[in-house]
Amino acid sequence: MNSINQSRSECTPFIWPIGGGKGGTGKSFLTINIGILLARQGYKTLLIDADLGTPNLHTIIGLPNPKTSLSDFVNKTVSTLEETVLEMPVHNLFLISGARNKLDIANFAHEQKMKMLRAISRLHYDYILLDLGAGTAFNTIDFFTLSDSGIFVCIPEPTSIENIYRLIRSVYIRKIRQVLQINCFRNLAGQAEAQNRDAVIQHPEYLLTTLKQIDPEQGGNIEKILQAFQFKLVVNQVRKRDNPRTGTLICKIIEKHLGMRIQFIGNVGFDDRVHETVCMKSPYILKYAHSQTALDLHGVLQGITGGTNRQTAALAASTSI
Ligand SMILES: Nc1ncnc2c1ncn2[C@@H]1O[C@H](COP(=O)(O)OP(=O)(O)OP(=O)(O)O)[C@@H](O)[C@H]1O
Ligand SMILES: [Mg+2]
Repeated sequence: MNSINQSRSECTPFIWPIGGGKGGTGKSFLTINIGILLARQGYKTLLIDADLGTPNLHTIIGLPNPKTSLSDFVNKTVSTLEETVLEMPVHNLFLISGARNKLDIANFAHEQKMKMLRAISRLHYDYILLDLGAGTAFNTIDFFTLSDSGIFVCIPEPTSIENIYRLIRSVYIRKIRQVLQINCFRNLAGQAEAQNRDAVIQHPEYLLTTLKQIDPEQGGNIEKILQAFQFKLVVNQVRKRDNPRTGTLICKIIEKHLGMRIQFIGNVGFDDRVHETVCMKSPYILKYAHSQTALDLHGVLQGITGGTNRQTAALAASTSI
């Protein structure tokens, strides 16, 4: 690893939760393949199977019986999260599997969840990719509180687009609440909600507008913090007949209705051979390195590494996520 990467992994990791409103959009596919590309660029990269209910990253990677998993840490079988990290056959690539998670981990207690989130934020890697479960459950959304960044994956179908919109809205509301809590602005939020609770829930931008009316200075500060967030959108499984501009249109709709900016970082083409590589438990990017879909994955990688990303440092120490 080069010295730049070394110094970065000794500092705070770049944490990217990867979510999708619907199952089967390709969150795990992107996690493993982007993870491999990052590792090959010299970044010490950790993949975490944070799909608590239905973890399967280990299978896609070809590791049928991992010795440890996330729940070993949650259930205190091991004392540090580092003890659950597995080395992958790819240099620089590591995994915390969900394979042996206890069935009840998806509903674990708040304190256990906080402990896990804090432990993740203290790990020493260049990049940490979190493969999340589908949907908008609390325990999925809470992983987005770990960093100022997030990748949303949808496919070009109306149901998936509708669900990604709902997910992004839930994450955005969660982030606003998180910022308010961290900065002791709970009262402000309470006042805004008291004025019009339904509007706050239906239209997150209303919360900010109200906050700015109640306290222009603090409201403005919150707006600046929110603008620093980096949300990225990937449209996966795009076929030739699909509209290549779907991602751009989704971002415009989100900006119009939620008042938040999200960057479209690329279409990833549908390739029948993905199925074959999943069945063979062999990562796609290693087998079909020069395909169009592989090129698309490189484009997504560029969209991830091109910008800046910082962990919410205050958050790591905070117990009020
Ligand atoms: N670009 C692609 N081209 C063709 N097939 C794909 C592509 N991306 C993913 N798939 C296929 O779509 C299915 C779902 O992919 P994956 O398991 O990565 O989705 P997921 O979002 O992680 O699903 P879940 O929510 O169930 O965890 C798999 O069968 C995979 O082979
Ligand atoms: Mg998955």
